[in-house]
Amino acid sequence: MKKDLLKLLDLSKEDIVSILNTADQLKYETKHNIHKDYLKGKTLAMIFEKNSTRTRVSFETGMYQLGGHALFLSGKESQIGRGEPIEDTARVLDRYCDGIMIRTFAQEEVERLAQYTQIPVINGLTDFCHPCQVLADLLTIREHRAALEGLKMCYIGDGNNMANSLIVGGLKMGMEVSVACPEGYDPDQQVLDFAKGSPEHKFSLFRTPKEAAAGADVMITDVWASMGQEEEKAVRVKAFQGYQINEELMALTNSGCMVQHCLPAHRGEEITAGVFEAHAEEIFDEAENRLHAQKAVMYLLMKEEEQ
Ligand code: CP
Ligand code: NVA
Repeated sequence: MKKDLLKLLDLSKEDIVSILNTADQLKYETKHNIHKDYLKGKTLAMIFEKNSTRTRVSFETGMYQLGGHALFLSGKESQIGRGEPIEDTARVLDRYCDGIMIRTFAQEEVERLAQYTQIPVINGLTDFCHPCQVLADLLTIREHRAALEGLKMCYIGDGNNMANSLIVGGLKMGMEVSVACPEGYDPDQQVLDFAKGSPEHKFSLFRTPKEAAAGADVMITDVWASMGQEEEKAVRVKAFQGYQINEELMALTNSGCMVQHCLPAHRGEEITAGVFEAHAEEIFDEAENRLHAQKAVMYLLMKEEEQ
């Protein structure tokens, strides 16, 4: 059966460990100028129905470094933008390419794309989740702290795609996860059900950032208005007052606490400029690790078995 990366809920802890270990190995090779064309002759179609800097550049560069080729398909400029059904796009790309990365709105669209293709499909962000980003986050935290088990991850802000993937990824890896969101902006119910059903790990949802941040080893936040929510911006800015990673909140965390942000960041909203700059090294390590984590995903999903 072909494999996809549609959401972290589909992965076991062992799957995540295997991606992180492969990412470590590929990162080592790149840093030591060891070039191996693991995906020679392979093509990745990248469908973008939303903007991107990191995801586009890291997938395209990653594919090049693996000896393959990536092609950019903008939702607007392709026939998807004129209403061609995803099932048809899927069956066409299936005949030309060896993998598809898609960034879109509805998770259901990605799941349907995967159903109609024989080639691997990778979720590059939906309204529901952002698995590639969270694999990079886990890789970065593991690099800085040696292990993930037992660390406390705290997420402050909107219960959005990032929150959903962080909760699932963190709990699967044996972390304690605490979240603070304003009422009405909770993570997805499917994710909360998953969190409730994993009793061996600890999950808490608070309304006050201070309660969530106490004793944290890594603090994470994301924008208050995600792509597609531009019109809600003013309402959201009001709703999220106080849900900011700032110096006062950082004072409640464990010493050496890391800060992660998937970027783009809005200084003065979800994070202060001071906290951002004090942790810029970790945040840009995280951005770099998109490249290494995604190369690992493509390697594991698209590389042919040795004969
Ligand atoms: N973090 C992230 O996915 O960035 P882009 O939107 O720039 O791809
Ligand atoms: N929650 C953000 C993440 C951007 C990488 C969004 O969906 O716009």
